[in-house]
Amino acid sequence: MTERSVAIVGATGAVGQDLMAVLASRKVPLRSLRLLASTRSVGERRTFRGESLPVEVLGPESFRGVDVAIFSAGASVSREYAARAVAAGTIVIDNSSAFRLDPKVPLVVPEVNSAALNGHCGIISNPNCSTILLVLALSPLHIEAGLEAVVVSTYQAASGAGQLAMLELRSGMRAMLADEPFEPKVFPQQLAGNVFPHVDVFQADGYTREEDKLRDETRKILGLPQLPVEATCVRVPVERCHSESVSVRLSRPLLPAAARALFASAPGLLLCDEPQQNRYPMPLTMAFRDPVAIGRIRVSRVFENGLAFWLSGDQLRKGAALNAIQIAELV
Ligand code: A2P
Repeated sequence: MTERSVAIVGATGAVGQDLMAVLASRKVPLRSLRLLASTRSVGERRTFRGESLPVEVLGPESFRGVDVAIFSAGASVSREYAARAVAAGTIVIDNSSAFRLDPKVPLVVPEVNSAALNGHCGIISNPNCSTILLVLALSPLHIEAGLEAVVVSTYQAASGAGQLAMLELRSGMRAMLADEPFEPKVFPQQLAGNVFPHVDVFQADGYTREEDKLRDETRKILGLPQLPVEATCVRVPVERCHSESVSVRLSRPLLPAAARALFASAPGLLLCDEPQQNRYPMPLTMAFRDPVAIGRIRVSRVFENGLAFWLSGDQLRKGAALNAIQIAELV
């Protein structure tokens, strides 16, 4: 692999920190690494591969000489700076929702649709974290037995909402244990000791934007524009790792044993399905790990040719940083 000059936009954030950890652990050959954030981080430094690097303020000149920039600072920053980076000759891998549904922009999970990278025009979108975990499981099922419908409920960790959200969960837990009142600032409700069916904003039809992202991005990645996907996205008091309860209707019957064999050999998945031994996917066992664990695989009691299963994966790793770096390795 040739040496690259890489920039991380949003380097001080939750995903930014994981991008640095994954870059270091995968031994990606780098000529230089530029850490970019807002004026709030002026003067900060971060250590990468034993070297202390300055955090620079993102600005119009930030992309000069940068081969690949990974954006993880929210959609408005991506909208403002991605085109400028492309104009400077930089390939942008964007972790925000800004361009995901743009037909000219590939939306890529390398294990599923790396061919979509061909002919990209400078910007490549990294899907929503819950979508990445979901399509890793749906893709082998679709290839084997034809996917006809999906019902999914997510159990999303605090870290999906960023670093301040993780801190808010911790301070909420401390307040709860001390029987003190707590006023949430990042989340719409107190998360400690609670769950709420509210991720991103509500829309006129009663679904949230997160639930739309799951449907629309799944359709785009799998190339199934009419696939019915019903999502309910729920925030749970977990620091890292999203989990998902999934039911699917297939075109052809697929027994759980065959699905297990399929998942066991599918890239990016880890089969963890021994419920009699209390072994099933959980956030605590999957935090800081690359694969997405899948288990509780059983025959659906609702859908014809249906299966139900459960998965859990670190949404800061495979759901964000790792997926982005896998894309960077391919372009
Ligand atoms: P900063 O730490 O300087 O505010 P998270 O998702 O964990 O909340 O992190 C968001 C990341 O995006 C942080 O690194 C944050 O930098 C960065 N960021 C937010 N707004 C801007 C901006 N306008 N310009 C550059 N970076 C930004």
